[in-house]
Amino acid sequence: MSDMKTPGKMWDARYGSESTVYGTDPNAFFAEQLAQLKPGRMLLPGDGEGRNAVHAAVSGWSVRSFDASGVGVQKSLDMAAARGVTVDAEVGDCRTWIPGERFDVIGLFYLHLLPEMRPDFHRVATSWLKPGGTLLLEGFAPGQLRCSSGGPKRLDMLFTEEMVRGDFSGLEVATCQTLQVVLDEGPYHQGPAEVTRLVARRPVA
Ligand SMILES: C[S@@+](CC[C@H](N)C(=O)[O-])C[C@H]1O[C@@H](n2cnc3c(N)ncnc32)[C@H](O)[C@@H]1O
Repeated sequence: MSDMKTPGKMWDARYGSESTVYGTDPNAFFAEQLAQLKPGRMLLPGDGEGRNAVHAAVSGWSVRSFDASGVGVQKSLDMAAARGVTVDAEVGDCRTWIPGERFDVIGLFYLHLLPEMRPDFHRVATSWLKPGGTLLLEGFAPGQLRCSSGGPKRLDMLFTEEMVRGDFSGLEVATCQTLQVVLDEGPYHQGPAEVTRLVARRPVA
């Protein structure tokens, strides 16, 4: 539990022990959704080693990201440089980080926060969207407890449809779905999995 309250240390160790933990390709749902949107300004909290940020930057987006892990942030910056793009990645914690601007898209991918911080962070992140902006989320669902393809082994850190609809009740939901998928995302997300996905938009008025 203390690891989850100081996530940077745990994730520094994990990211430091593998060339990539979740691979260099973007999450499939993220890439599919991005292909349907006009490039603009994007924020990726908890972006880890930068697989999604670098894909977005290569696709023409202006990308900011933050993560509790300095090792992850450095890997993001290195991957961006190797691909010839810029990602504005910095070390930050969801409990304290403040962007000072609003975004066309915010992507929350496998950012499983403790239940005492998750709803507040989701509410605050909603306020960082421009009117008409899009929130994308994918994370493990409760059925993941039966799978061995990653994720926290705590029911209260897994995403149900009801939970995400409640957390993002200020947004208009386009898609909210729990489904079975097969992950192929580096050594830590491999095989059958149960995930919840959300696409929601901030109302214009
Ligand atoms: C499962 S990884 C997912 C990384 C990335 N989103 C991806 O899909 O490849 C979870 C990430 O959330 C970050 N994280 C966890 N708690 C955090 C917090 N309170 N503030 C910022 N980042 C956090 C971790 O450092 C880790 O990089």
